Amino acid sequence: MGKIVILTGAGISAESGLGTFRDEGGLWAQHRVEDVATPEGFSRNPALVHDFYNARRVQAAKAKPNAAHEALARLQKNYPGEVVIVTQNVDSLHEAGGASNVIHMHGTLAGALCAACDHRWPAPPQMAVGETCPACAAPTARPDVVWFGEMPYQMDVIYDHLAEATLFAAIGTSGQVYPAAAFVYEAMQSGAHTVELNLEPSTGAASFDEVILGPATETVPRWIEGLLNRR
Ligand code: OAD
Repeated sequence: MGKIVILTGAGISAESGLGTFRDEGGLWAQHRVEDVATPEGFSRNPALVHDFYNARRVQAAKAKPNAAHEALARLQKNYPGEVVIVTQNVDSLHEAGGASNVIHMHGTLAGALCAACDHRWPAPPQMAVGETCPACAAPTARPDVVWFGEMPYQMDVIYDHLAEATLFAAIGTSGQVYPAAAFVYEAMQSGAHTVELNLEPSTGAASFDEVILGPATETVPRWIEGLLNRR
């Protein structure tokens, strides 16, 4: 059985009540990316950045996984080959929905990171400016999320998976942020069948073999039932 690699974005968590970035009224319409999602923004005004992620952490903690997260976990359990989930999302809804081995390429709200020594530990619900690192005691704690200008996590592992993929699906992502937006091309080069599941065609929709439009809670469970029944 071939390897399935699934890339997810904010759209898969939208029906769990978590806002996306670029839809109308999305997070980037309310906040300036340069202020809250760059290392420079954090140096300039760490309190503002902590406020932004503290609010998202509170919201994410209240959110429940939806039928799309649960269907992906079902695919991981019932598909005889490997199913790798790579998410750009910093929420933990894949894990809450029962998925395992989720690669959080943009980090996670659940984590804190020391900007001085790279030590990681579970984030408290509210992070504060000047919080010290439990390993080196520097007052340099930051959310363990990837900001613009920083390298996403586990890229080597992700590219290795893409090189072995026989099926690649992108779910709920606008395809506007690299390197994730280029995963479809990597998968194509490996000979994988490529599928996009999104509310509307993404920027790169024309590059996919198949595009399935609609809300993730409807399209993803239906698509996964089809995959599991096809065997
Ligand atoms: P975006 O907000 O850019 O795109 C979300 C996509 O989900 C859009 O194409 C929507 O049409 C689609 N969508 C919305 N509701 C949906 C639903 N119910 N079902 C299916 N699709 C739906 O979010 P991402 O592509 O995840 O990075 O953004 C990528 C990265 O940009 C994020 O990880 C974040 C952001 O800046 C960093 O902060 C580094």
